[in-house]
Amino acid sequence: MVCLGNICRSPLAEGILKAKIDPDKVQVDSAGTGGWHIGELPDSRSIDIAKKHGLDITDQRGKKFSAYDFETYDYIFVMDNSNYRDVIRMAKNDSEKQKVRLILDEIFPGENVDVPDPYYGGDHGFENVYQMLDQACEKIVSRL
Ligand code: 4NP
Repeated sequence: MVCLGNICRSPLAEGILKAKIDPDKVQVDSAGTGGWHIGELPDSRSIDIAKKHGLDITDQRGKKFSAYDFETYDYIFVMDNSNYRDVIRMAKNDSEKQKVRLILDEIFPGENVDVPDPYYGGDHGFENVYQMLDQACEKIVSRL
């Protein structure tokens, strides 16, 4: 799960997907394309929204997406079109490029919909993001 800062959207996506899969069978992680928040906890608003829905994401710490992640993961879900461009630029070949998916393509196929960055918005933005990611993760799990 990849966003820009790895403190708002992708930590929620990681927490939501992890809660829906068998950890012995599926490895889920998240990262940001930017490195400003390496080592930090998720944004307190993401922590609070996750908690409201019964998820604890306080074990997560900010990481930067690395080209090595293409080798580790079968799927790389990005939150928006800007993340998509940044991640695709790091891919070495077509097989790596094909791993990269816009996460909301899961629920709005082919419509190029972004998960809006809630960083500068109010708390409602985080609930909205949670709901979108929950639906998308449900679809991902149904296909695994
Ligand atoms: P995220 O939100 O990409 O959903 O984690 C952001 C968090 C921080 C920044 C940008 C986006 N930032 O520029 O620090």
